[in-house]
Amino acid sequence: MNIKRMRVSIITLRRKCRSWGHQRGLCVLSILVSLVILTIRYLTITERVEETDLNPCLVPKEQRRWLFHLLSTVSSLLSHLAITHFLCYDSLWGAVQESGPLPWDAHAHLCALNEKVAVHDEAELLRAFRRRGLALEYSSAEGQYTIKNSSAIPDKWEAPTIQIILFEEDDRVHMLRRVGWKRRVLPPDCDAHPSLQCFPPNLVALPLPERPFGPLTLPAPREDIDLLKFHYPDTWWRPLLPQC
Ligand SMILES: *[C@@H]1O[C@H](CO)[C@@H](O)[C@H](O)[C@H]1NC(C)=O
Repeated sequence: MNIKRMRVSIITLRRKCRSWGHQRGLCVLSILVSLVILTIRYLTITERVEETDLNPCLVPKEQRRWLFHLLSTVSSLLSHLAITHFLCYDSLWGAVQESGPLPWDAHAHLCALNEKVAVHDEAELLRAFRRRGLALEYSSAEGQYTIKNSSAIPDKWEAPTIQIILFEEDDRVHMLRRVGWKRRVLPPDCDAHPSLQCFPPNLVALPLPERPFGPLTLPAPREDIDLLKFHYPDTWWRPLLPQC
């Protein structure tokens, strides 16, 4: 029963009570009971409203579960293919700040070493992901994969995706840098071109440490704060604020 109907029935009860006269006590009791039920319903509804509508920044729990399931499948598949991968960008921020995703981030970021990806041909990768019900898309401009569940998902919220950003070592400067044709034309000068997002290879020397990430444990770079210093040179020292 919704609140509006409940209110109407209380009003009719009161009207009836007036006409009954002789059973006043019983009437007052039923009105009180209705009021208590109404209050309880009102309280539970406001609670629900607070969780989702009042805080659009929070990713709903169900959407989170989807992300964790997707992330766990992707990470074990990458390990199975011997592709070195680790938390990075916003997901590394989340791991450091929250031991999980940032509360407003519905998606996840992993970084991977291109030399380990390149030993597999494209068709083999596609097949391996497809067999697990995942769609894999590569952007050759950005040098990154986007992975999502290929099944239809509830349209209440945006489907979680996982970005895998590829890095490769530049022998001239001994730094790892982003791949993709947008950056390939740039000279390997990490200081002059922040978009190369360079970092030293020793931060991802094997074996990588594992970091809690919600219910999962995922590989992370060594000295994770150091990678954040490279990728967020101007802001790494202060906590990230909600971006919504
Ligand atoms: C993909 O979605 C389906 C339901 O639509 C679910 O059963 C399956 O476990 C999901 N797979 C992954 C890897 O998230």
